[in-house]
Amino acid sequence: MKVKIVFYSMYGHVYRMAEAVAEGVREVEGAEVELLQVPELVPDDVLEKSGAKKTRAVFAHIPVATPDDLADADAIIFGAPTRFGNMCGQMRNFLDQTGGLWAQNALVGKVGSVFTSTGTQHGGQETTIVSFHTTLLHHGMVIVGLPYTETRQFTLDEVSGGSPYGATTIAAPDGSRMPSDNELGMARFQGRHVAAIATKLAGA
Ligand SMILES: Cc1cc2nc3c(=O)[nH]c(=O)nc-3n(C[C@H](O)[C@H](O)[C@H](O)COP(=O)(O)O)c2cc1C
Repeated sequence: MKVKIVFYSMYGHVYRMAEAVAEGVREVEGAEVELLQVPELVPDDVLEKSGAKKTRAVFAHIPVATPDDLADADAIIFGAPTRFGNMCGQMRNFLDQTGGLWAQNALVGKVGSVFTSTGTQHGGQETTIVSFHTTLLHHGMVIVGLPYTETRQFTLDEVSGGSPYGATTIAAPDGSRMPSDNELGMARFQGRHVAAIATKLAGA
């Protein structure tokens, strides 16, 4: 049973969450996990000016995905930061190249799940995940979120991301806040939960 985690990250928050999602997948017996990042679209000099060249170097070893990489997965967990309440353009551009897969029904029946990061607490985590689901449903994927059996999402005694739609983190407007233990716990739960459901579907 193969789970692929396909993400984009500019300042490392989504990448850190993706690593935690992968840890959760590995907790499920028989589950293989592969991390992939979607291609960058921002010119090098712009990345340099915004400091993203340095932050992206941390995960430069993660292979770059092509749409065909999705075809042999049993489950795909997507991670994308918010841009104006929606997924980032790099992920949109990647998904817009999956028309060939759509034409072959290649993703029908696979598990799909989404996690995200925003700069601010109410900056569009839920809209980003739920609007992402629309694309996955067009592909015929089986959407899996983060059930409330993951009780970390009830946390009120600290600032925390997390939603029934998927794990989330809050990066702060200047990107200075890294995912908290509570948020990483939810990311691990999501990975484990997706892998467990995909295992059941694969055995059916
Ligand atoms: C063009 C642009 C638009 C953004 N829009 C939002 C937004 O709508 N809401 C929000 O909370 N954060 C917004 N952010 C902040 C990013 O979501 C934040 O930098 C990201 O979650 C950090 O994740 P990363 O380190 O994995 O790139 C925006 C950032 C950029 C560059």
